[in-house]
Amino acid sequence: MRTLPTHLLEKAQTYEHSTRISVPAYDTLFAVTQAYFRMHLGEQEASLLVVGAGGGNELSAWGPTNPKWMFTGVDPSEEMLQIAQHKAVQLDIESRVQLLQGTIERLPQSTPKFDAASCILVLHFIEDRQEKLHLLQNIHKQLKPGKPFVLACAYGERESDELQDRIKIWQSYFLEAGYTKEKVDSMGKGIMNISFLSDQEIQQLLSEAGFQNITRFFSSGLFAGWMSHA
Ligand SMILES: C[S@@+](CC[C@H](N)C(=O)[O-])C[C@H]1O[C@@H](n2cnc3c(N)ncnc32)[C@H](O)[C@@H]1O
Repeated sequence: MRTLPTHLLEKAQTYEHSTRISVPAYDTLFAVTQAYFRMHLGEQEASLLVVGAGGGNELSAWGPTNPKWMFTGVDPSEEMLQIAQHKAVQLDIESRVQLLQGTIERLPQSTPKFDAASCILVLHFIEDRQEKLHLLQNIHKQLKPGKPFVLACAYGERESDELQDRIKIWQSYFLEAGYTKEKVDSMGKGIMNISFLSDQEIQQLLSEAGFQNITRFFSSGLFAGWMSHA
């Protein structure tokens, strides 16, 4: 697919722009994750599982710079996957990319286990704790023992002043970027619809799912990132 329909092109551009305001240092998160994976994977061929691959930002951040990495991405959103597929073609890495529409359950039983996995900006869209755990357990099952996993998502204690203060900073950063007050007010209400868990609860979930050596390595505004090993 050489061109995207106009509405998807606009959606892609909006996502690229807004996600970098929503998650300050977003590109650094990807750069540090790449460094972490590289440290463990070395220069060999490696298979990566990207959970929430829609939009294709993992592909553009890690694809061209790691020519021996093969990517399998899952995402339920057809539109976000179309954007990712388009990126893979533009970057000329589509022969190393397989995208599946659906959740992680969509992976065929016969899929060989992966050398690394990421789940970036997905977990807070899953409301139920059991479902979050189920996703993390499934990711764990898909990894070879000891292999690295990076999780990044929103975090915080829902009713705490600390989170409310971080939300205010998040909103003022959007205002600084030129968003209108009306838009930012409505985004402030919308953000409370996502599922926040505290750092401790997220680390507990990772641990229950079987991950070890859990370390929070990133925190920016409403979001944080944890590295761990299967
Ligand atoms: C904010 S985007 C993040 C995309 C990409 N990881 C990034 O950082 O740019 C969230 C993506 O997660 C996807 N998603 C939602 N629930 C999911 C699930 N259960 N499994 C995999 N992806 C999911 C959405 O369709 C959406 O494409």
